This record gives sequence, structure tokens and C-alpha cells, in this order.
Amino acid sequence: MQIVPPTIDRLPAYAAALRDGYSPDNVRGAIAAQEILARIDADAQRFIESMEDREARGPLVTLPDRSQVKRIPGFHRWMWDDDPAAPFCGAISVRWQPGSVTLPPHVLGHIGYSVVPWKRRRGYATEALAQLLVEIRDLGLPHVDITTDPDNVPSQRVILANGGVFVEAFTKPAAFGEKPGYRYRISLDPPPTALQSVR
Ligand SMILES: CC(C)(COP(=O)(O)OP(=O)(O)OC[C@H]1O[C@@H](n2cnc3c(N)ncnc32)[C@H](O)[C@@H]1OP(=O)(O)O)[C@@H](O)C(=O)NCCC(=O)NCCS
Repeated sequence: MQIVPPTIDRLPAYAAALRDGYSPDNVRGAIAAQEILARIDADAQRFIESMEDREARGPLVTLPDRSQVKRIPGFHRWMWDDDPAAPFCGAISVRWQPGSVTLPPHVLGHIGYSVVPWKRRRGYATEALAQLLVEIRDLGLPHVDITTDPDNVPSQRVILANGGVFVEAFTKPAAFGEKPGYRYRISLDPPPTALQSVR
């Protein structure tokens, strides 16, 4: 499994996964998947371009309470394996504020990821995070924060396997329903190398 940039030739496998029940948004689920399919139908090229948005030119971000907020810079990578019929495995993304390691209150973490339900427990999320940590070395961030739900043990194991440490339990902002969350931190100082990747 490799993380790869979203491209127009990879789009059909991604759209097929969305139609088969995958959603990159583990809070807004199927609704978010439908919204993405609509964006792809409307303008596939523009959708692909929005996946690499280091200047935050993309559309507003819809939060779980349906409020919309300004986007911050970020980019997405797709997890891709050698399954010829369905190589799309999941997605991982990073977002940041230029010149700062802090995030606005409505951005819960620097990195988010999801694996299609039918390819989970193969180590893909763990490996994807290891690969992304190498790819973001040039952003100059001293660390990244990743948040999970308290009961999301798989995600917590992904973070811990990549050198993350538990920082705190916190209450998510009102737009996220004031639910509990766990915050983890992965140091990028010194920057990770591929050889330090966990698998
Ligand atoms: C969290 C998620 C990305 C993990 O993806 P994955 O590719 O299955 O993860 P991995 O195969 O790398 O497994 C990571 C660890 O979690 C464990 N794990 C995976 N699924 C598990 C489960 N259902 N129950 C218990 N442990 C589980 C694995 O055994 C592994 O542990 P190990 O490193 O000690 O062996 C995936 O479950 C998912 O997409 N969930 C929905 C979206 C989500 O929660 N994203 C994270 C938001 S913070």
C-alpha cells in the first residue's frame, strides 16, 4: 500500500468506493459521501484540484452541526494497493495554519484518515500515517496533533504505533456536539524518515 496523490485517472476507483458505502468523513458519514459524489459529477477536474489546496482556495468546510467555516491549507492522499479491481483503500489528509503549529478551534487535528470498511485491519492506516509523516517534513511543523473519540481504539493504535503520545482528554466545540475527545501528539523533531516507519 502506498499513499498517492488523487488524480483524474484514479477518480473512478474512489467514486466506486463512495458508492459502495465508504465515507472519508466518519462523523457525517453517508451524507458527506453523497456531497462528494455530487461535486465529482459537477466538475471532476475541479474536485481533483481541490485535493491539493495549499492556499486554502477550496469551498467552505461543513461541520457536524452543518455550520460552515473557512478552509485552512491542506492536501489529501489516497491509499492505493495492488488490487486491480478496486485499488482505492482509504484517504488521509493534513491541514495546517501557515507559520503556526496551532489550529483554529473548529479544526480538531492536523491529520485525519479513514480506510474502506472492506480493507481494514491490514495495517493500511498505520502505514499511511507513517508515509504521510515523511511527506510533510517540509512543512516545518514541530509536531502534529491528532484527535480521536475516546472509544476509537483502532485510531488510537494507529497514532501510538507512529510514536504519538496521549496529551489530554478534551471537550469538542459546540459545532461537534460538545462530545469528549482525546488529543494525541506526534513529534516531528527530528523529522521522521522512511526507515523509522513502523512496518
Ligand atoms: C481507524 C481506521 C482508520 C483504522 O484503519 P485500519 O487500516 O484498519 O488500521 P490498521 O490496520 O493500521 O490497525 C491499527 C491498529 O488497530 C487495531 N485495530 C484495527 N481495527 C480494530 C478493531 N475493530 N478493534 C480493535 N483493534 C483494531 C489493529 O489491530 C492495529 O493494532 P496493532 O498496531 O496493535 O496491531 C479505520 O478503522 C477507519 O477508517 N475507521 C473509521 C474512520 C476513523 O475512525 N478515522 C479516524 C478518525 S480519528
